[in-house]
Amino acid sequence: MKIFVTRKIPEPGLILLRKEHEIEVNPYDRVLTKKEIMQGLKGKDGLLCLLTDTIDEEVISSEPKLKMISSYAVGYNNIDVKEATKRGISVSNTPGVLTDATAEMAWSLLFSATRHIVEGDKFTRSGKFKGWDPMLLLGQGITGKTLGIIGAGRIGTCFALKSKGFNMKILYVDGKTDDTLENELGAKKVTLDTLLKKSDFISLHIPLLSSTHHLIGEQELRMMKKTAVLINTSRGPVIDEKALVKALKNGWIFGAGLDVYENEPHVEKELLKLNNVILQPHSASATVESRTKMAIMAAENMLTGLKGEMPPNCVNPDIFN
Ligand code: GLV
Ligand code: GLV
Repeated sequence: MKIFVTRKIPEPGLILLRKEHEIEVNPYDRVLTKKEIMQGLKGKDGLLCLLTDTIDEEVISSEPKLKMISSYAVGYNNIDVKEATKRGISVSNTPGVLTDATAEMAWSLLFSATRHIVEGDKFTRSGKFKGWDPMLLLGQGITGKTLGIIGAGRIGTCFALKSKGFNMKILYVDGKTDDTLENELGAKKVTLDTLLKKSDFISLHIPLLSSTHHLIGEQELRMMKKTAVLINTSRGPVIDEKALVKALKNGWIFGAGLDVYENEPHVEKELLKLNNVILQPHSASATVESRTKMAIMAAENMLTGLKGEMPPNCVNPDIFN
């Protein structure tokens, strides 16, 4: 069968696909336009895509042979899963293999924003370091503080468990009780308002849905402590970016660490001017280990899906009922 791959992914994944099928890979080192994706998809049975590709109804319906969409990402808000389901096309993602990497990035952002790591680096490089200073770049302590987890799924739970060495109180917001968090960390399930008011650090680990769009806006930012640090490694539109700029500018919160943005790859210009926010280019899963495993997982999902069987990480299993 024939597969279109919208961007070069780590070789171990491509090798698996090539063994059984004919593959065409985007030859450019850039995101393809929608038109280019539809062109590449012509006559293909499988589509291996990225979170940067908009796989909407127009794309999905453009190739009648299409039976499998394997996404190289855990989040799949960029794919019209409903439309795929309607057409009996299976859709898969890559959960689990990027959980640690993403949790590690959330911690990197938390440390960096809390201890002025990027600002300190710039300060030192620019020759401004003139000797030890009692008041230089004062941050916030982390040990013993309260950590607020919004979304206790795989990544949120993993992120929280990594706090063990810091002796933190854990609050979380989720639809269901997280036994791991409650038993291992004595975590408490609370309402969003309580979490916002009581947490010193708040980290977002929810998918982007219509119900989570702008979950954190002006009102929520105003509820947070002035010393709070907000971390987002989930999806940008979960935060109202303009409201966040206001919060950071006016000192409603201490700082923020962002890996994702509302209109990627655009980054709100005002954010670029602020020292109390750490900005990463959506790279939370970017470790050699994680990206290699994602490639293998995406390929394995594709191979199973093309056989007409349910891929191991199917997000629309209903089509097999
Ligand atoms: C990254 O954002 C992913 O969803 O894999
Ligand atoms: C989903 O994004 C998860 O928490 O693994």
